[in-house]
Order: sequence, then structure tokens, then C-alpha cells
Amino acid sequence: PAIRLEDYQPPAYRIGTVDLRVELAPSETIVRAVLSITRQDGTHPGTPLELDGDDLALVSLTIDGRVPGQDEFNAAPDRLELFTPPAESFELELVTRLDPDANTKLMGLYRSSGTYCTQCEAEGFRRITYFLDRPDVLSVYTTRLEAEKDACPVLLANGNLIEEGPLGDSGRHFAVWHDPHPKPAYLFALVAGDLARVPARFSTQSGNEIALNIYVEHGKEDRCAWAMDSLIRSMRWDEEVFGLEYDLDVFNIVAVSDFNMGAMENKGLNIFNDKYVLADPETATDQDFANIEAVIAHEYFHNWTGNRITCRDWFQLCLKEGLTVFRDQEFSSDMRSRAVKRIADVRLLKSHQFPEDAGPLAHPVRPRTYHEINNFYTATVYEKGAEVVRMLKTLIGDDAFKAGLDLYFERHDGDATTIEAFLACFSEAASTNLDQFSRWYEQAGTPVVTAETDYDEGSKTFTVSLSQEIPPVPGQKNSKPAVIPLRFGLIGANGNDLDTGAPEGTRLQGDVLILNKAHQKITFDNIESRPVLSLLRGFSAPVRLNQSLSQDELVFLAAKDSDPFNRWQAVQTLLMKDLVRLTGETRQGNRAAPSSDTIAVIGNVLTDASLDEALRAQALVLPSEADIAQEIGKNVDPDAVYEARQQLRKAIAGAHGAEFQSIAKSAMPNGPFSPDAASAGKRALANRALSFVAVSELAGAAETIWERFAAAYNMTDRISALTLLVHDHLAKEEEALATYLKRHESNSLAMDKWFMTQATAPGAETLAKVRALKTHPLYDAGNPNRVRSLLQSFATGNPTQFARGDGAGFELVAESVLEIDRRNPQVASRLLTSFRSWRALDPQRSALAETALLRVSSFENLSRDSRDIVDRTLQ
Ligand code: ARG
Ligand code: ZN
Repeated sequence: PAIRLEDYQPPAYRIGTVDLRVELAPSETIVRAVLSITRQDGTHPGTPLELDGDDLALVSLTIDGRVPGQDEFNAAPDRLELFTPPAESFELELVTRLDPDANTKLMGLYRSSGTYCTQCEAEGFRRITYFLDRPDVLSVYTTRLEAEKDACPVLLANGNLIEEGPLGDSGRHFAVWHDPHPKPAYLFALVAGDLARVPARFSTQSGNEIALNIYVEHGKEDRCAWAMDSLIRSMRWDEEVFGLEYDLDVFNIVAVSDFNMGAMENKGLNIFNDKYVLADPETATDQDFANIEAVIAHEYFHNWTGNRITCRDWFQLCLKEGLTVFRDQEFSSDMRSRAVKRIADVRLLKSHQFPEDAGPLAHPVRPRTYHEINNFYTATVYEKGAEVVRMLKTLIGDDAFKAGLDLYFERHDGDATTIEAFLACFSEAASTNLDQFSRWYEQAGTPVVTAETDYDEGSKTFTVSLSQEIPPVPGQKNSKPAVIPLRFGLIGANGNDLDTGAPEGTRLQGDVLILNKAHQKITFDNIESRPVLSLLRGFSAPVRLNQSLSQDELVFLAAKDSDPFNRWQAVQTLLMKDLVRLTGETRQGNRAAPSSDTIAVIGNVLTDASLDEALRAQALVLPSEADIAQEIGKNVDPDAVYEARQQLRKAIAGAHGAEFQSIAKSAMPNGPFSPDAASAGKRALANRALSFVAVSELAGAAETIWERFAAAYNMTDRISALTLLVHDHLAKEEEALATYLKRHESNSLAMDKWFMTQATAPGAETLAKVRALKTHPLYDAGNPNRVRSLLQSFATGNPTQFARGDGAGFELVAESVLEIDRRNPQVASRLLTSFRSWRALDPQRSALAETALLRVSSFENLSRDSRDIVDRTLQ
């Protein structure tokens, strides 16, 4: 049954305190939960109490110490109902029996490499005990853990440690943790195991001493330094920028190797996919270092945006996720180059969120209905949600935005609240009506903004005609105009921005035009000669911009725009125009040449010393095959896309081979390795240059790449070289893979990269290779990272092979989805979303994709997760 936002009802009962005693054992863990329950004002006395469960086995139950009769309650694996609960307040004691070892869904309590851990968001707590498992039920938790001391010397739960000791001479011991902050059940966590501890300290701005710990498997301690450093910088930054301080005596992070998502912000006890904790130069890339910094920050920032202030219901997920992504993006921008970070974030948005918003899985930032909430931890909720917060800041200005946030923290601390309440704070702080702005939360689909310009020589006026429209979205009939902030500049012939002043009759704030109608005309007066319009600077709104710029204007912007984002965008637009044209020609069987402008623009980027290395590296990334397919939009032939892209890559390499070669040499920083942004930028540029050298006709190109691989002293350089050797079928690819395997076989995160490199290799032989890798001794279908590194990367990172003309790529993924679904529905349904753009393929391929989807759909015992995705994808 669908859950609907409009059906929201406050809970009939409250649970003030939760006292848990968990006796841990691998296949028989006993959980005793004492819940103090109060009937809410307004709830009719005698209203039945319905608690959520999932796969639970009830051992016993008492109500105020009394064993109820069989006619007083009903217990099923997914529900516990008390028909007539006692008066106002009562104590319910529940004993449940769990099997952590058999828990392959990795929701609730499970074991990862022997360590007990939990994942409760969104609805995992109900797999531990019966509960009102919804985010608007806030309780104070006390957790007592008991386990064998040898197997589990470390016992952790939320909050502060208040007691610990041995349990007689049984060989078992206990620890009691108390979290004074009321919280919803999804933030509950416990961990028990034999783990190493990496400690540090932090003193808050008001002088509290916080103990920081990162727990990892023994032997991995020296890969935690970067994560700890990132945590300390996050804590300081949140104080300095948002005035937000930590609020417990201890902050613990645990890294586990089997985890469905990235990480989880459980109060005082964050649990992480170890991929977002562990790093050293030998095994982690610069991208890994940057991701760790961002995810550590993200989870830490949730302490205020998510935990202190949480969501009333799961429709409000973006209240915590969009805002927290915005905060982690700002943090990374302050730690690194703001322009480079913005480009990276927009690339991610366009490659993940835009296709989601344009396909059958489109949904508003705040969905109105869902079948399975786990399927809504999406790029739309997270990334578009962050863009909406960013637009709000642009619209009302930095000061009002800050005042609004301060008001939000003050007014809603301790609440489980809504988007309306959040927006009300900004509306008050800025004295402005945000009703129309709130459409960003309600309407799915990416608005298309069209911009046309006209210069009138006689009247010296420059007119910008703007319009907006959301293309049809499933289940969304008439969309209404949104409020779209368009940062802009009018650039004169010398490359400087004109000082335009506010044009008649429009809302303009500083350098931002506000488009809030379907059509709008803006006229600038006293413009001496025709300027070039640089629009959507900094990507000020998550829209597709359809601007009629001439080739000359694009070349001009690529060279002159003072906004680094739009300079980068102009380069990308030129590349994309060429790639779309070349794809069309390839398809017709014509051999067309790339445009000389494109080649020249790349040459300018290469030699422009005013751009830092990271920015130059970004500008040299050709649009991906998926980006090109998205731009083409329908009747896509991935082989033609691949051919066209390779053709352009070779043409660029042919024209600038010598420069690339010298950059590859000179940009490479010399050791010792440092993960800082500037060094990472140098490596990015050098490796980007090498990717062109690889396809140049220069003598010894293949040897250069091989040497780079063999001599690499860090993972960034090693994996870039390996990828070129394998993807471009240069010299000795099998030998390179074998060398890598030997070097990294005991490090599973490094091995994920080995699987991924092979799964994303273009070429018909990859399919058989991926099938073979599924039986490789190091393949583990129970480890989500490994499944994603082989199958998710094949399905999303290898367009020609996933969408093979014979349908075998679709078949492989469909069959894998069915295998995984039995074990771990969340991982399976995520893999299934890789079909989301199937209707955009050419008729033959889309028919084959549909056959594969129908095969998944015909499977009767599909999980709710996968059923939801397959139904929506086919609808
Ligand atoms: N709140 C977590 C984060 O943003 C994500 C957890 C999602 N987990 C899930 N099973 N749906 O970092
Ligand atoms: Zn989050």
C-alpha cells in the first residue's frame, strides 16, 4: 500500500524512555526493551497501541509487570498490537530474539566481519524490537550491552558511557550508555566487537572537552588519520560558520566493511562504510580523500541538521539531507577551491539527478507518496535538495539566510518538523513570501529555461527574453512557474562585466535576475554595444539552460568569462555541441571532423596559467558517454556515442600531444604525498594529460603509461594509469591487472577499484569478463561495496556494454538483481535503478531493456524495494 503525505497523523502514543538490555550472541541475541508509554492528549482512552516490527520473534511481554492474556494482544513478525492499553501511562517490557548472523539485509542488528553493528534509518529499529518506528516519536535511550569480553572487548552505543564492568567470572562483560537527547529510533545505534581505537580530543568554543574516537579493525589504525583530521576541521568549521557546537562528552565513529549506504549519523555514534574512513596514499585516491572529508563532515553536521532537529515524517527527508548536503558542500568549498568544488557538484547533479528527474523514477524533492522509503534516498532528495537550499540563500541574501537558519535552530531545537516550518523561518527573517519558492519542493522535473537576447543599435537597449517550462513528468500534469534565481553578467568586448544597474520592471538582486513567470522580458538601457550574456553563473539554479549563443560567443565566454563556473561551462558546451554532432554523423556512417574551435579552446585551457591545475583538469574532462546520451535525449545509440567521443579525444590528443606530454611530466608533484587540494589538482591535471597521451600517435605513448603505472607511488596515479591500460587496450593490460592484484589483494577497498576498472572497460569481451569475475575468489555477493564495484559500475559506467545490441548486458544485470534481491533488497533495488533511462535508447535496445525488466517483474517473490523500482520503471 502507498504511504501518502496527506494521510499524516500525529502518533497516538508517546514513548518517553527506552531502556534496552542487549545480550549479544552471533545467532541468538536477546533484546529486552522497557518502554515507558504515554497516551497523547487527544487520543481516546483505550485506543489500541500498534507497534511496528519486521521479522521479529517475540519471546515475552509484560504490561506494568503483568503478563497479559492471549486475548489482550496480537504479536506477528511485523506488528504488535495491544487491544486495550491501560490508562494514561504504562510500562511495556518486550523481549525479542534476533539472529545477527542471518541478517543479510544489513538493516537492524547484523554482523560485519565479526563486529556487531546496527543500521536503523529509515525503518531498521523495528527489526530489533517492536516500536513506534517513526521519526516523530522521540525518546531518551539507555542501552546496556552484554557480550563475551574476548570476542567483544569494545561495547558502544549512543550518548555517554555511564557504567561498565565484568559480569562475574562468566567471561562476559557489560557497558551502559545513556543518551540524554531525545531522539527518534532511526538514530539508535550499537556496536560491539574486537576493534582498535584511534583517539583524539577536541575542545569546543565554549570550553567543553570532547573525546573523539575512530574504531576500526586491528591493523587499520594508521589509515584513520585523514578521517580524524577531517572530523576536527568539521567540528571547528560548524562552530565558526554556523555557531553550532557538539553536545555530548564523546563522539565515536566506527568503520565497518559491509554497509548499504555511505554512512549514518546515529547520535554520538556514527557508523561508516569503511570506504569513507580509511585512507592512505598507497590505497586511496585523491577523490577518496575528498569523499572522506565530505562524508565525515556530512555525518557530523547531521548532529544539528537531522538529530537535534529531525524530520516529522519521511516525506520530509530533504529537511535534513538537502540542508546537510548544502552544509558539507560549503565546508568542502572552504577547505578547497570553491570553483572546483562547484563544478564537481554540478557535474554530479547533472549526471545523477537530471536523468533521475527526466525518467520514470522522477519525484519531487519532497515526495508525496512512497511504497518503500529506502528508495527515496536519491540524488533528487540529497543533491537537488541541497540546490534548493542554495537558491534560497541566493534569493534572500547571505544575511537573511543566516538569520533564518539561526531562527530555525532556536525555534525548532528538539523538534521533529517539516519543510513548511523550515521555510517559515526564512520567510520571517527576510520578510518575504516564499509560497512560490516552495514549489521547488513540490514539483518534479528539471525546468528548462530558454534565453534569447536582442540588441537594438538605435535605442542602445539589450533585451533578454526568458521563459521556463518543466517537461512532462509521470503523474504530474500542469506544472507551475518556479522562482528561478539567474546569476548573470553582461560582458563587454574587453571581457569586463558591464555595470548595468537594475532594469525596468524586474526583480533584480545584485547580479541575480529573478525569473518567476512562464515568460519574462528584461530590458537593459544605455548599452553602448552588443554584450555577451553570461547566464546561470555559478549554476545558480538546478535548471537546463537553453541559451541561443553563437559559436563565437561560446568561444568568447570560454576565454573571457570572469565567472570560473561559466568559463568551464562554455568549454563543456562547445565540447558537447561537437560530440552531439559527431554522434549523429557517426550514426549516418559519415566521417566528420571535430570543429577547429573545440580543438583551439582546449589548447587555450592547456596553456592558461591563470587557471589553477585543478580547474584546468576539470575543463579537460570530456562529457561522459552518459552525459552525451542525456543531451541527445532519445533514440540513443551508445556505440555511436562512444565512437564520437573517442574520435574527439583522439583529435584533441593529435593536436596537442606535445603539450600533453610535457604537462604530464611537469605537473606531477614530487613526493612525499600530500592529499591537499593543490597537490591533488596537480595530479589530476597530469593524469588528465596522460589520458590524451594514451590515444595520441606519439611514439612510445603506451610505454609512457606503462611506466607511469609501474612507477606510481600513490593510488591516484596507479589507478589512472591502470584504467588507461585496460580501457584503451594499451600494452600489457593483463600483466598490469595481475601486478595490481598481487599488490592489493589483501586490501578490499583497493580491490574494489580492480573490479571496477574491468567492469567499466569498453569492448565486447567485458561481458564475459564480468560474468567470470562474479565467480572470482575475491568476489563477495554479500559485500555491498564489492557488488557495486563490479555490477553497479558495469550497469552505470559502461554504456556500450550494459546496453549491448544483443541484450546480454541487460540480462546479466537483471539476473544479478534477482540473485541479490533475496539477500539484500536495498542493494538489489539500487542496481535495478540503472535501467531508469531505458526509454531513451534506440527502439531495438529499449525493447531488450524492457524484456529484462519484465523478467525481473515476473519474479513473484521480489522484495518490496525492487518491486517498487521495477513497477515505476516500467509504468
Ligand atoms: N542518513 C544517512 C546519510 O545521509 C543515510 C542513511 C540511509 N540509509 C538507508 N538505509 N536508507 O548519511
Ligand atoms: Zn545525510
